[in-house]
Amino acid sequence: MSEESAARGRVLLIVSGGIAAYKVLETIRRLKQAGVAVRCVLTRGGAEFVTPLSLQALSEDRVYTDLFSLTDESEMGHIELSRQADLVVVAPASADLLAKMAAGLADDLAATVLLATDKPVLVAPAMNVRMWEHPATQDNLATLIRRGVSLIGPNEGPMACGEYGPGRLVEPADLAAAILRRLGAGAGEAEERAQPAAGPLAGRKALVTSGPTHEPIDPVRYIANRSSGRQGHAIAEALAALGAEVTLVSGPTHLPDPPGLATVRIESAEEMLAACRAALPVDIAVCAAAVADWTVKARGAAKIKKQAGGPPPALELAENPDILKTLSAPGAERPALVVGFAAETEEVAQLGAKKRARKGCDWILANDVSEGTGTFGGDENTVTLITAEGAEPWPTQTKRAVAARLAERIAAHFEDPSRTGAAGKAAE
Ligand code: C5P
Repeated sequence: MSEESAARGRVLLIVSGGIAAYKVLETIRRLKQAGVAVRCVLTRGGAEFVTPLSLQALSEDRVYTDLFSLTDESEMGHIELSRQADLVVVAPASADLLAKMAAGLADDLAATVLLATDKPVLVAPAMNVRMWEHPATQDNLATLIRRGVSLIGPNEGPMACGEYGPGRLVEPADLAAAILRRLGAGAGEAEERAQPAAGPLAGRKALVTSGPTHEPIDPVRYIANRSSGRQGHAIAEALAALGAEVTLVSGPTHLPDPPGLATVRIESAEEMLAACRAALPVDIAVCAAAVADWTVKARGAAKIKKQAGGPPPALELAENPDILKTLSAPGAERPALVVGFAAETEEVAQLGAKKRARKGCDWILANDVSEGTGTFGGDENTVTLITAEGAEPWPTQTKRAVAARLAERIAAHFEDPSRTGAAGKAAE
């Protein structure tokens, strides 16, 4: 990697198998244009879809393919490969490579580099929807997220295999933007040129939870709350539109990953908490997820069989962690502003205020979910903003409008915390 481009950030890009591998060619082009040095490791599976020559031509560097090649080892060992990078990116990340990473295998160059590296790792999965949804893949991802690996995508849409669902690699522009964001200070100049961060929340980090959580009973059944994720996703987008660097931690929804921000997909409350912790420190946390209050204590490893005439299985439940309360607890990593939601069917403002005190958060958006409001899955929401200064009912408006208004209020808070009623740690 040349000295000039190394000053703007160095990426070690691991390309594993999958039809989506062609998208990394465009990603490399964009990164190079932004002044980032890119060096590629191509797995055997990846080489079925892109050639070392195309990667080499675009990255303007040699491509590493084989752990056991004496030339590679003498010129550049696997330790050295990751040592010379600021960020390791796996795109596309196949189910197989994710499994190797989770298990700590080191049976080829890519897996060895990933086991040996102490650099931040970003994975962009791409695979068939059933492989993505398989509990093995989801468990592997949860393990990786817990260890601090960040995740972008996958997107939802029609797949090369003819099926529809989550599993598509994120688009090259979004992948390149996510990489530039993670390169941070080292690539600040390059990022500025590629994607000027403007707006009142530029330089602020935000974490948004969205969607339901699924608490598995066995590999095919789960218990969950009702939530479309539309309000949470809209808030993540609205904060990003004002310049914030947003991590969206989302339970299973049918919504596509919003472009231009990092989406971490999880299933259970425990995974949601782990992904939130991994995203800290942030300035702003908005907990819009409908987290299940309980999880199933003894999760069946195999599908529980129905027994004709027999009694239904008894489910023993255990309480889930309260993510909002955990994030609101005083501590070095407490976000400057924590916002929660309260879904109520009566006395919305009073109950919302009590919830604000109980959770220890700064603001509560209390919404009326009584029958006839159409809040669940609908386009509109009626909320009351509750701060230390009291309750402020907002008119019924679309979830996007609620999100935009909240994002504006958050921006105003950071401009002058004394005016906007946050009781938490003062913003600088
Ligand atoms: O206690 P309740 O579920 O009514 O609180 C709602 C608020 O708390 C929402 O902001 C929700 O995202 C958050 N919450 C959480 N973790 C839980 C339960 C709720 O973050 N386990």
